[in-house]
Amino acid sequence: MIINKMMLKLPALSINEAFARSVVAAFILPLDPTMQELADVKTAVSEAVTNAIIHGYGDCEGFIFINAQLTRDGIFEIEIEDSGVGISDLPLALSPMYTSAPELERSGMGFTIMEQFMDSLVVDSKPGAGTKVRMVKKLQPRNLH
Ligand SMILES: Nc1ncnc2c1ncn2[C@@H]1O[C@H](COP(=O)(O)OP(=O)(O)O)[C@@H](O)[C@H]1O
Ligand SMILES: [Mg+2]
Repeated sequence: MIINKMMLKLPALSINEAFARSVVAAFILPLDPTMQELADVKTAVSEAVTNAIIHGYGDCEGFIFINAQLTRDGIFEIEIEDSGVGISDLPLALSPMYTSAPELERSGMGFTIMEQFMDSLVVDSKPGAGTKVRMVKKLQPRNLH
């Protein structure tokens, strides 16, 4: 049973990295997540939002769309979407240590982190159209507030 949903549209600005991760932390708080779960979700969301800003839009303006839902038994699902440049070689982009932006001192570990900190990661992308990152995490069942 779905207990809450959220739809958020944010301009692709770096101040919204911190905002998005705090909003998402607040969103899962009613399920009383552990510190570890909170940290994992915040880090994964940060990585995806940062990617949308720096890779998706670069110096262009645009919006990031965040859709999330939470079920009573602790399944947290989130989609982070941009309408930026998209990814032409997805398997390469997903591989650990690959970055198309070494000049920005990127580590190339964003997708790897998302994959490790969440229970599933699915990336959908079309060059010229944008990118959608879908992640799911099963939170430990706890009493609802
Ligand atoms: N939202 C996005 N839009 C366009 N390209 C992306 C997006 N997210 C990731 N990428 C591509 O995938 C690569 C790997 O991403 P990631 O693992 O987060 O490493 P990093 O951000 O350190 O480069 C990026 O370098 C970029 O080429
Ligand atoms: Mg990244």
